[in-house]
Amino acid sequence: MRLDVVTIFPDYFAPLQLSLVGKAIDKGIIEVAVHDLRDWTHDRHNTVDDTPYGGGAGMVMKPEPWGEALDALEAADDRPMTIVVPTPAGRPFTQALAYELAARQRLVFACGRYEGIDQRVIDHCAERYELVEVSLGDYVLNGGEVAALAVTEAVVRLLPGVVGNPESLVEESHSPEHPLLEYPNYTKPPVWRGREVPEILFSGHHANVAKWRLEQATERTRARRPDLLDEA
Ligand code: ADE
Repeated sequence: MRLDVVTIFPDYFAPLQLSLVGKAIDKGIIEVAVHDLRDWTHDRHNTVDDTPYGGGAGMVMKPEPWGEALDALEAADDRPMTIVVPTPAGRPFTQALAYELAARQRLVFACGRYEGIDQRVIDHCAERYELVEVSLGDYVLNGGEVAALAVTEAVVRLLPGVVGNPESLVEESHSPEHPLLEYPNYTKPPVWRGREVPEILFSGHHANVAKWRLEQATERTRARRPDLLDEA
């Protein structure tokens, strides 16, 4: 999979070199290219924004640099582009959407700042490429960069060879096979500050442990996210 990121803050993406995503790059599972939108401006101040038509607060990202950026990225590689635009007005990002995106050959993250990107760029993308507008949740970030990092991590860890033990993808919260929150985990020591590890986990009885974990997961989900049980 190839990932391109277009942003006015390329430095935000330094953490992609770390941890599992960094290892996925080293192993050749993904290629990542981060691009500065200002490279596609032509004025002395490298202007990427302007005042909104119709008035109102804030600035809007101009369409011309985005158009040139998309043309250049399209010409750089044959693989079909799925444009991912992080925005609070997007489709809620879920594990199911992470699996959908993990099946794509090439994701291009278009990170907006200010009040967002001129709508004509979005319409152009919808016509010419696959477009997914994605929201991390019902809160407002200063721009798409943090959301693009979160989506990248959630997607890349689903690619074959990235997570050491693929079994761990099956049991975790929000996986399609297991729509419950994860059960609580414990490790040594058996007593810490007077708090004991639940007795059942020492029993060595795998079926009973599995039953206890399922009960814990179900109870947690009922208490914290009853909406997930309704969906399941
Ligand atoms: N950009 C600003 N806020 C956002 C959010 N909640 N999700 C995705 N992108 C955003």
